[in-house]
Amino acid sequence: MPMKALILSGGRGTRLRPITHTSAKQLVPIANKPILFYAIEAIRDAGISDIGIIVGDTHCEIEEAVGDGSIWGVKVTYIPQDAPLGLAHAVKTAQPFLKDDPFVMFLGDNLIRDGIARLVSEFSKSKANSQILLAHVKNPQDFGVAELDGDRVFRLREKPKEPKSDLALVGVYMFDRNVFEAVDAITPSARGELEITDAIQYLIDHGYDVRWQVVNGWWKDTGKLEDMLEANRLVLDGLETCMEGNVDGKSSVHGRVCIKPGAKIINSTVRGPAIIGEDCIIENSYIGPYTSIYNGVTILNSEVEHSIILENSSVKDIGSRIEDSLIGKSVVVSKDNQKPRAYRFMLGDNSEVSVI
Ligand code: DAU
Repeated sequence: MPMKALILSGGRGTRLRPITHTSAKQLVPIANKPILFYAIEAIRDAGISDIGIIVGDTHCEIEEAVGDGSIWGVKVTYIPQDAPLGLAHAVKTAQPFLKDDPFVMFLGDNLIRDGIARLVSEFSKSKANSQILLAHVKNPQDFGVAELDGDRVFRLREKPKEPKSDLALVGVYMFDRNVFEAVDAITPSARGELEITDAIQYLIDHGYDVRWQVVNGWWKDTGKLEDMLEANRLVLDGLETCMEGNVDGKSSVHGRVCIKPGAKIINSTVRGPAIIGEDCIIENSYIGPYTSIYNGVTILNSEVEHSIILENSSVKDIGSRIEDSLIGKSVVVSKDNQKPRAYRFMLGDNSEVSVI
């Protein structure tokens, strides 16, 4: 039976505010590509072309970015979820799309280096009812956590205060149609959501065949700023160099760097891994390792390292180096010589600024 895919791209993204006050967290770019696009590519590379995307309040933005999927050669169906009532609620909502077909569910803010092709093909060939992926993490209390008994997973707990193992549930799950029995049977958790973790526990408790594997390579849930920066680092480590922009004679570019068309590097140093988007201007500046600068950004007389800057923002005349930062779209960061000398801010709700 051909498999389908379900990407979850609804939800609120509260941990990435203020960026997600106005944008979908799944569209924040990692190495200048929206996170969601990595999921679509991983699914396509696994040979699945029928993809449902769960969308919530940010549906317009997501539909505009992804379209009908034809640029990836896949067919995308949008599935509105009235409210983010949980991952299992999203599965319920998608039942008319999924019908009786086996499917892979991919959380739209998860990145998995080695893709899912091998997993999907193993699951299709197996007689398993569900396949979950696990990864060793340092902070299991922030995830669904699996407890193993020999070869068997016997308990799954969502964000336990006292985790019994360091094995987190990765946001890529495979199911056959029996999952609908499970999502119909469970009740909302303490945080008021229908948890997919509880649905999988139901499958285990009712004798269904739930298999598990530990992921090879890295996996990242990009829900928080530090995870986003780490994902950016991991992806930039594998960046292919490109030189489609313009670098003047007074500039130097070292290491793994990709400079996109229309970008101008003037009297500056770029030390990779780093990516500079289309039509950026980098002048009298230093761009250090692990920096992703999206299209239309201007950096003037400034230094930026280990950061992500979104489109059309500008950073001008900043005396100290900017590090570990995520700067949203059309943001202006500049030095101001007006008197009296003072910091002048216009910051959205939940912004964070550290000054020296
Ligand atoms: O990343 C892995 C973790 O993902 C697992 O270890 C947890 O067991 C699992 O519950 C989930 O935890 P999160 O708290 O990180 O899930 P989050 O609320 O961030 O939602 C994940 C994605 O699903 C995100 O792209 C938003 C989307 N979503 C979420 C909910 C609750 C929906 O589309 N609809 C929803 O109702």
